Amino acid sequence: MARPKIALIGAGQIGGTLAHLAALKELGDVVLFDIAEGTPEGKALDIAESGPSEGFDASLSGTQSYADIAGADVCIVTAGVPRKPGMSRDDLLGINLKVMKSVGEGIRDHAPNAFVICITNPLDAMVWALREFSGLPHEKVCGMAGVLDSARFRHFLATEFGVSMKDVTAFVLGGHGDTMVPLSRYSTVAGIPLPDLVAMGWTTQETLDGIIQRTRDGGAEIVGLLKTGSAFYAPATSAIEMAEAYLKDQKRVLPCAAYVDGALGLKGMYVGVPTVIGAGGIEKVIDIKMTKDEQAMFDSSVKAVKGLVEACKGIDSSLA
Ligand code: APR
Repeated sequence: MARPKIALIGAGQIGGTLAHLAALKELGDVVLFDIAEGTPEGKALDIAESGPSEGFDASLSGTQSYADIAGADVCIVTAGVPRKPGMSRDDLLGINLKVMKSVGEGIRDHAPNAFVICITNPLDAMVWALREFSGLPHEKVCGMAGVLDSARFRHFLATEFGVSMKDVTAFVLGGHGDTMVPLSRYSTVAGIPLPDLVAMGWTTQETLDGIIQRTRDGGAEIVGLLKTGSAFYAPATSAIEMAEAYLKDQKRVLPCAAYVDGALGLKGMYVGVPTVIGAGGIEKVIDIKMTKDEQAMFDSSVKAVKGLVEACKGIDSSLA
């Protein structure tokens, strides 16, 4: 059987890392697309030349032509601009919306059967716009945010508790921004919920609140340190986890920006929710019940996402 084809739209920091990981994991052949001439070609060749030492079988190529993504099984979109210190993800809206238009049309015309994972920020609005411009089925277009946000939460928790990250689960809902909702009640160390760990004296509520805030600010913390761009290793790893779930029909339960129509009291919008990812794409949105406080936090996150979607409609009348 031919290897799956993975198209990476955007060959910058995240795109290059995605290509490297996809090759190392032998998920398929990789096509890197970028408008910057030479960048996708150079990265593809560089990674391909690591193949003999690593021993992976995957072909890599770079292109400026959408025709070369034809028949892709998976498209991961990072095209656009990342933020600089002092910028919020929302500040990227105007520029990246235009990019989503060209990318969406490119995918529509050349890879309409792909499972599409958007990473470009502001994530929840960009994945909505990308779906609109591409016209692909909603269950085949999603955004990577929750896997990354919960990985950050898990990392901080594992460090606080001095236990393996493998034994820490975390649950994050809502938009990928300042209003994201890390849910302590559903986050555990080996199945023991965080509020119980506070009661057992493993940590304090104050420490936990600090970790939750650090998770919300996780992206900004990296931007502040790097100064010239935003995080790329962990975002790439998170998207690869989602792509692998689709390609191998793993039925993974992963939080991601998915189209929700009915669940969680929402009507037809993209926002971060727990999902099941398998060969059908987003096969299920898990309709969890929230407490009053959690619901209030989720509602304000939903409101922020809706505001960004309205702003997109104001910028591009074809979306209205
Ligand atoms: N089509 C294709 N590629 C584009 C386009 C376009 N219209 N516009 C820009 N690009 C390319 C740039 O040439 C660059 O190589 O997108 C790439 C973006 O790479 P980086 O600037 O390195 O950004 P990166 O760190 O990879 O982040 C990409 O993901 O996390 C988000 O906020 C982040 O929106 C940003 C995106």
